[in-house]
Amino acid sequence: MQVIVADHPLITHKLTVLRDRTTASSTFRALAKELVTLLAYEATRRVRVTPIEIQTPVTTTTGVQIAAPIPLIVPILRAGLGMLDGLTALLPTAEVGFLGMLRDEETLQPTAYAHRLPDDLTGRQVFVLDPMLATGGSMAATLDYLYARGASDITAICLIGAPEGVDLLERSTQGRDFTVVIGALDERLDDKGYIVPGLGDAGDRLYGTV
Ligand code: PRP
Ligand code: URA
Repeated sequence: MQVIVADHPLITHKLTVLRDRTTASSTFRALAKELVTLLAYEATRRVRVTPIEIQTPVTTTTGVQIAAPIPLIVPILRAGLGMLDGLTALLPTAEVGFLGMLRDEETLQPTAYAHRLPDDLTGRQVFVLDPMLATGGSMAATLDYLYARGASDITAICLIGAPEGVDLLERSTQGRDFTVVIGALDERLDDKGYIVPGLGDAGDRLYGTV
């Protein structure tokens, strides 16, 4: 597993506004989109491309295009939806699969309540989106779903992570080709499983309390 923690003042600045409890949902959504665009620079560094010959107004040259099979983007519902537009803007030909995960507030265990994914992910590059990597349980369960369908090249993008979540993913992805790109690695989890300092409940801050 490769862990990439973004170290960029613009990312830290935008995360600071995101963390602020007074930031409105509309601003929060806009920032989540901007942040995923910045983090995607690292996350898509190994996106597969094939050579293509084109004509410029001056000459013939060889460039690249996204290779087949096209990548799959998987936002983890609900909060991962807030990052989807940012990545599809950069990878417009990618397909999108959906996985709904809900973490029990007492046990902190995730339950999958919805999935709409291709049955066969053999050979597909998969990009998983979830703003929060707390205990890591939701991400680990998501990876299990994807591995069971044959995925072998997975990159996750998270806005904020906790060391506990990174440790769980280290253990659960041993020997796999897995990369996680994180905007900031925070201090720890509190006794309710929230990231400290964190930003609170990402889904609620994006979409309101349900
Ligand atoms: C949040 C978040 C992650 C999960 C992280 O989702 O978006 O999916 O918690 O916690 P974990 O690493 O301890 O599993 P939540 O379950 O609150 O659902 P929501 O996106 O619908 O708000
Ligand atoms: N889920 C969130 O939305 N926030 C946290 O801090 C932890 C889990």
